[in-house]
Amino acid sequence: MSNIKNVAVIGGSGNLGPSVIEALLDAGFEVTALTRAESKATFPASVKVQKVDYSSSTSVAEALKGQDAVVSTIATLALSQQSSLVEEAVKAGVKRFIPSEFGLNTPKVTGGTAKILGAKLQLQEQLKKLAAENPSFSWTGVSTSLFFDWGLKVGSLGFNVKDKTATIFDSGNEPFTGSNLPFIGQSVAAILKHPEQTANKYIQVASFTTTQNEILKLLEEESGTKWTVDHKKTEDFQKIADEKLAKGDYSSFGDYLKVYLFADGKGQSPKEGELANKELGLKTEDLKATIKSVL
Ligand SMILES: NC(=O)c1ccc[n+]([C@@H]2O[C@H](COP(=O)([O-])OP(=O)(O)OC[C@H]3O[C@@H](n4cnc5c(N)ncnc54)[C@H](OP(=O)(O)O)[C@@H]3O)[C@@H](O)[C@H]2O)c1
Repeated sequence: MSNIKNVAVIGGSGNLGPSVIEALLDAGFEVTALTRAESKATFPASVKVQKVDYSSSTSVAEALKGQDAVVSTIATLALSQQSSLVEEAVKAGVKRFIPSEFGLNTPKVTGGTAKILGAKLQLQEQLKKLAAENPSFSWTGVSTSLFFDWGLKVGSLGFNVKDKTATIFDSGNEPFTGSNLPFIGQSVAAILKHPEQTANKYIQVASFTTTQNEILKLLEEESGTKWTVDHKKTEDFQKIADEKLAKGDYSSFGDYLKVYLFADGKGQSPKEGELANKELGLKTEDLKATIKSVL
């Protein structure tokens, strides 16, 4: 595969996108940000900005002209829009499409979680089919597990940094992985720097493996105070999630997530050798330093 130089980033103005754009620029790629016509998003001066009407194939085709790769960090609610984007990417001669995954190891999710993440799974099937039909086209899916630094700030890991409170699920000893946003950006850049190694694969990366109890200990050490801790059972969240989903309520995802990541014995954390960190040449991240910087 010839080198990838021009990279279009879709939805690069959200939670994850700016870190991806920054890492791509640092790695020397020419970056074009595709953004909705009505968007008020702003981008670094060295990024070319292309307003796009995602419902118009002409508009999308124009935006993808000359691009070697497309990275989608589009919002969860807009995931289904990627289907037509991928079709246009193939027609435009794009060599690599990285879909908006960046979360759970979706090829392995089951039950309610798989139902909620259906758009990601459907896109994987479409990418596989298109790559089989078009040898010059390829894709890479990336699971990052939780956004770790972002998650600490917004509370998705069970910690409230402002109030110094924690919710520990089950024993708090279940290992799980997380990835800091700059690290995810570096992972995307590394994938595009290693196109052969990463073609037509779903890979997992992570900043580190940890547990809720380890995080709590470091938060208490670094903040120099004891935190108020509440204990909850993940089996209760499984029930709540199933009931919500039965009523079509997709906010159940947050409840399923607690079970998936924190339930004792769930074993979802990638095993030794399942992470692509080493083969992508990604630097090791430090949990304590991350916690310090978030505090
Ligand atoms: N692992 C985790 O903990 C975690 C957490 C959050 C998200 N995620 C995943 O990471 C990916 C990116 O999520 P994110 O939170 O960074 O996304 P986001 O901030 O919600 O949205 C990203 C961008 O998508 C564009 N967008 C928003 N609504 C749109 C619409 N209706 N149609 C087209 N474009 C739209 C916007 O860009 P413009 O305004 O420039 O058009 C927006 O800035 C998703 O796959 C999500 O599921 C993972």
